[in-house]
Amino acid sequence: MGVNLKGRHFLSMLDFSLEEILAVLETARRMKATLVKCRSAVPSTPVADRVGGRTGADGEHPFPGPLAGKTLAMIFQKPSLRTRVSFETGMTLLGGHAIYLAPTDISLGARETTEDIALVLSRYVDVIMARVFGHDIVVALAKHATVPVINGLSDFEHPCQILADFLTVLERKGRLDGIHGCYIGDGNNVCHSLMLGAARVGMHFTAITPPGYEPKPEVNRSAVQEGANTGAKIVVTNDLKAAAGADMVYTDVWASMGQESEASARKKVFKDYRIDAGTIKIANKDCIILHCLPAHYGDEIDYATSRTPNSAIFDQAENRMHAQNALMVHLMGCA
Ligand code: CP
Ligand code: NVA
Repeated sequence: MGVNLKGRHFLSMLDFSLEEILAVLETARRMKATLVKCRSAVPSTPVADRVGGRTGADGEHPFPGPLAGKTLAMIFQKPSLRTRVSFETGMTLLGGHAIYLAPTDISLGARETTEDIALVLSRYVDVIMARVFGHDIVVALAKHATVPVINGLSDFEHPCQILADFLTVLERKGRLDGIHGCYIGDGNNVCHSLMLGAARVGMHFTAITPPGYEPKPEVNRSAVQEGANTGAKIVVTNDLKAAAGADMVYTDVWASMGQESEASARKKVFKDYRIDAGTIKIANKDCIILHCLPAHYGDEIDYATSRTPNSAIFDQAENRMHAQNALMVHLMGCA
């Protein structure tokens, strides 16, 4: 597909058109297949000998290194397992390099301005990924950076997660448009990106939250408006029965990073807004269960349900890397 994303930022699911999202997902599918083939070709050979553009020991399955010589700066204001490891490993596999900047390394917002950080990093690196509290921080980085900026999670959106989720849904269901996706839990950053992404790709979407924890009204408005273009029906409700017939059921933690002080109060409010065996009974029996992780088993999802054949939570985690690898090669014009 002939899309050109070189130099673009990725802060929101609505930053990419339908065609661009599908192009990134197709690149991800292709790159994942190549990597899996490469990794399985000579299991005894260290991955490092078979990647980064070097020919493998078998001489047949080198993993191409499209990002050789490129550097990714990873700014973190919050903890991470998946985002940090998937981006860093991805850069290694693609022949590039990633620099981890921990919260105390650059003291974003305290030591110097976000504008200066963006301008300085742009003189060194080829792409910036940032995990931040306020969404305005990734917006400011993107405004001032001369290289692509990727939102690695803000309080408002988590678009990289949804690219990986869509890749996972495609693998299991073969399509995104016309299926019924359902999210149960807090109307948070993950819910926002999922809702906007669903609307853009034509996936019917129902967000089920406790009263007072719905997604932001402006996100709902944008999703409904976008859904009118793509045929996606977007619903926000407090009624758990709205999961009936869902092809995909998704949840996330009840208290996000930064909301730790609300955790015990939220446990009471959210206690019924969870995925368990009963959810699969209400939804389609072959529904796909998703969770971005980290999970709090016994709260938003029970352990047993997370280990059923319906669950794709670890495919999702793996697909973070494949989706982001594709994203990075597109943003750097190396797809
Ligand atoms: N899903 C996700 O973003 O995980 P981390 O917080 O571990 O990066
Ligand atoms: N909503 C969660 C997602 C974690 C990946 C948070 O922001 O903490």
